[in-house]
Amino acid sequence: MNVLVLGSGGREHALVYKLRESRHTEEIFSAPGNAGIATEAECYPIDLTHPAEMLALAEELNARLTVVGPEAPLAAGVVDEFQKAGRLIMGPTKAAARLESSKVFAKQFMQRHEIPTARFAVAESVEEAVKAAAGFGLPVVIKADGLAGGKGVVVAHTREEAEKTIEAFMRQKTLGESGERLVIEECVAGEEMSFIVLADPRGGILPLPPAQDYKALLEDDAGPNTGGMGAYSDDALVTPALRQAIIRRVVLPTLQGMEAEGAPYQGFLYCGLMLTSDGPKVLEYNVRLGDPETQPMLMRLRSDWVEILMASLEGNLGSIEGRSSPNPAVCVVMASKGYPGQPETGQVIEGYETAESQGGIKIFHAGTVFREGHLLTSGGRVFGVTAIAADLPSALDRAYAAVRKIRFEGMQYRRDIGAKGLRRSRRAPEGLPSSALPGGMQSS
Ligand code: AMP
Ligand code: GLY
Repeated sequence: MNVLVLGSGGREHALVYKLRESRHTEEIFSAPGNAGIATEAECYPIDLTHPAEMLALAEELNARLTVVGPEAPLAAGVVDEFQKAGRLIMGPTKAAARLESSKVFAKQFMQRHEIPTARFAVAESVEEAVKAAAGFGLPVVIKADGLAGGKGVVVAHTREEAEKTIEAFMRQKTLGESGERLVIEECVAGEEMSFIVLADPRGGILPLPPAQDYKALLEDDAGPNTGGMGAYSDDALVTPALRQAIIRRVVLPTLQGMEAEGAPYQGFLYCGLMLTSDGPKVLEYNVRLGDPETQPMLMRLRSDWVEILMASLEGNLGSIEGRSSPNPAVCVVMASKGYPGQPETGQVIEGYETAESQGGIKIFHAGTVFREGHLLTSGGRVFGVTAIAADLPSALDRAYAAVRKIRFEGMQYRRDIGAKGLRRSRRAPEGLPSSALPGGMQSS
């Protein structure tokens, strides 16, 4: 079948890479894609906020299946548009996508359905927000209601920083309408984990391999939040008991709650969790795969990706078994100078071909463009250098050896991706036997 992937980041490059491996894929297309995707799929420029345009392209290309990468087309209603036309597409409807497109909706939804999350208040004005923030200890978390590309959350360590953030979001409108309403939230402590499941329209779920994202720009989780500076996927991130607790207390109540509220959910459901001493708490939902989590997760996938996606669309997830490699995978993001603010682009990239020539390495492109024989940077996140190996230390060695071969002016990357996993394995050196992972993909 012909397959269309919507988006232009590293996540979409990983999707294309995996879809190409499927025995069911004939032609593969991407819109708009990037320079790396263009070496593996035919790319078409398109506006990802216009559902009718995306549908017209899928029809023209005779795409039997369309996979949506980012949140913007979902929030714009691309799934509703395709469903009206009877065309297959992977993702939730606009109403269900509110779990990500409105943090106020998501928090109030969790409250209604008793899904564990941090205490919060909703504010509609600067005065309300300042007053609400004063009701929490420090640090306090300030979140813009609407989509902000991972930049709408600030963990404020002083009252002054909290007030400056509120002013910036609400009065200076640094995030446009997204900051018109705010969620003010208690800061919870623990380790973060990205737990992503695929949900089908008949209530079937398939948990994907667990991952941990590194959201802060700088080492030791310092500096501003970004879309993600790296991630790794390793079965040792969850014990079987924790996996069951997340499914029982978070995933199933979320899906049942959406169904009960008349917005049944299907597609990828990303639960951004904090593993607190009180159990897992939801920090955020995303209604799509994570970027960069998808890169290491899919690097581990052994099942035919098209078969999984089709089983999901047909409501058959209950009858299939996903398989993933027991080996961990890691992705180190290389970003442009200036990211997550205004990135400096147009820099010539060198060394990427040599970097990718070793086994177990794949470089997923994000902000790249090919011009006059040169690969140039064209966005904030440039590459996701992804490696798989028999254990986490070897995967990290492999990824960083490749990273060190790549050069562009002003490049920035974190040197401590995966360090939390290394610390965990020192505490429990044997890790978890992969056979002890019920309810998710089987590692084999
Ligand atoms: P979100 O987009 O809501 O996931 O927030 C982005 C990041 O901010 C999260 O991945 C956490 O690192 C941090 N964060 C968000 N909410 C909280 C919270 N309530 N307590 C501590 N950290 C948080
Ligand atoms: N890496 C976090 C996200 O995709 O939102």
